[in-house]
Amino acid sequence: MVTGYSIALPSSDSALSRAYQSGFGNEHQTEALAGALPVGQRSPQRVAYGLYAEQFSGTAFTAPRASNLRTWFYRIRPSVKHGSFQLTDHPRLASGGVERSLTAPAAQLRWSPFDVPTSAGDFIDGLTTIAVNGDVSMNTGLAVHMYLARESMDDRFFVNADGEMLLVPQLGRIRAHTECGILDVAPGEILLLPRGMAFRIVLPDSIARGYICENYGQAFRLPERGPVGSDGFANERDFLAPVAAYEDREGTFQLTMKFGGQLFAAEMDHSPIDVVAWWGNCTPYKYDLSRYTVIGTVSVDHPDPSIYTVLTSPSDTAGVANADFVVFPPRWMVATGTFRPPPYHRNIMSEFMGLVHGEYVAKPDGFLPGGATLHNSMLPHGPADSVFEAAASADLSPEKLEGTLAFMFESRYVLKPTEFALTTSALQQDYAQCWSGLRKQFSGDAGHD
Ligand SMILES: [Fe+2]
Repeated sequence: MVTGYSIALPSSDSALSRAYQSGFGNEHQTEALAGALPVGQRSPQRVAYGLYAEQFSGTAFTAPRASNLRTWFYRIRPSVKHGSFQLTDHPRLASGGVERSLTAPAAQLRWSPFDVPTSAGDFIDGLTTIAVNGDVSMNTGLAVHMYLARESMDDRFFVNADGEMLLVPQLGRIRAHTECGILDVAPGEILLLPRGMAFRIVLPDSIARGYICENYGQAFRLPERGPVGSDGFANERDFLAPVAAYEDREGTFQLTMKFGGQLFAAEMDHSPIDVVAWWGNCTPYKYDLSRYTVIGTVSVDHPDPSIYTVLTSPSDTAGVANADFVVFPPRWMVATGTFRPPPYHRNIMSEFMGLVHGEYVAKPDGFLPGGATLHNSMLPHGPADSVFEAAASADLSPEKLEGTLAFMFESRYVLKPTEFALTTSALQQDYAQCWSGLRKQFSGDAGHD
């Protein structure tokens, strides 16, 4: 068992040395007060310290054991003590299946880095949806958001009943105070927040920009390894869950809930982050992407990018993901006789890409950290013309790609950009020009090289 602690005010807890529990999908258990966890049962007649027992189900009760997610909280008040939710609005937040007027243009799209406006406010205020698919009410698809924030949430909390949220920080660290405890996450790491769990985002650097995959479908899990064997890709032990940490605070708080594609807000007289002890396998995780064990060719040709899958949300069709989170980290390029950048291709799956830092090998110009590309189903794409020319004549000695971290949210469903995404000045109107220099090389001469 891992012991936790009580949370001081958000602005003053930075001195705590952060403890975590290791292992994705583990049956974790942790208590901030000794003896708070019941032994040998879930719901005693009376819980120690006068706590309430509460179950938190991340899957249907009867989901198969291998994918079943639930956690038991032992908390100061049950979460039902949240006050009355009132409908509120958000100018830049959208959900799949709700904004039915959205359509996807038959075009490759690229955005320059999204600004963090001075008016961005906190994590909730600055949420900006870029694209959506599926249907939030049908547990299918996802939404891609940017979070653009300049303030900590302090006495505000957020619950997303519509989906889990995978955060990919790009600028500035974030500290997540969750019902399960505290996680400190920096660019180069990711944060996975379970569907329905209350949290607050604190900004140690007073600015934060990052990407979010809001997953309406089945919870993210680690992909199968197949013939690769028992280790490799993202390894379970590198995922870190928090230890119990609670606030026993009363005052004026606001809880914002995303539910059915709409936002509701309730006033509360206490902090909802009041879980003193918990056990279970439905928990937030952080993961350092530099821990990803890259597996690729050591002979010829280019593996499909599925070789870089960190987490996958399966759909009801085997091998066809509702959402994949794929990362392109530093790695050696050693293929012989091979065009080493990603090949030109058309993909039935839809691909949203972001860049945490550095350059992406296929697009050294125009695709910048904090920006994005969207290549929807069957829309052709591939290396920029300059990349092709260089790679087709490159010396193929081993080369290490360093200082780069790109990623992809991939989905079986076409991603529909929001009105903001199609009208923002960040949208690059000349993106397709990056391929304009690809010239005919065919000569009809089999000896052409
Ligand atoms: Fe692609």
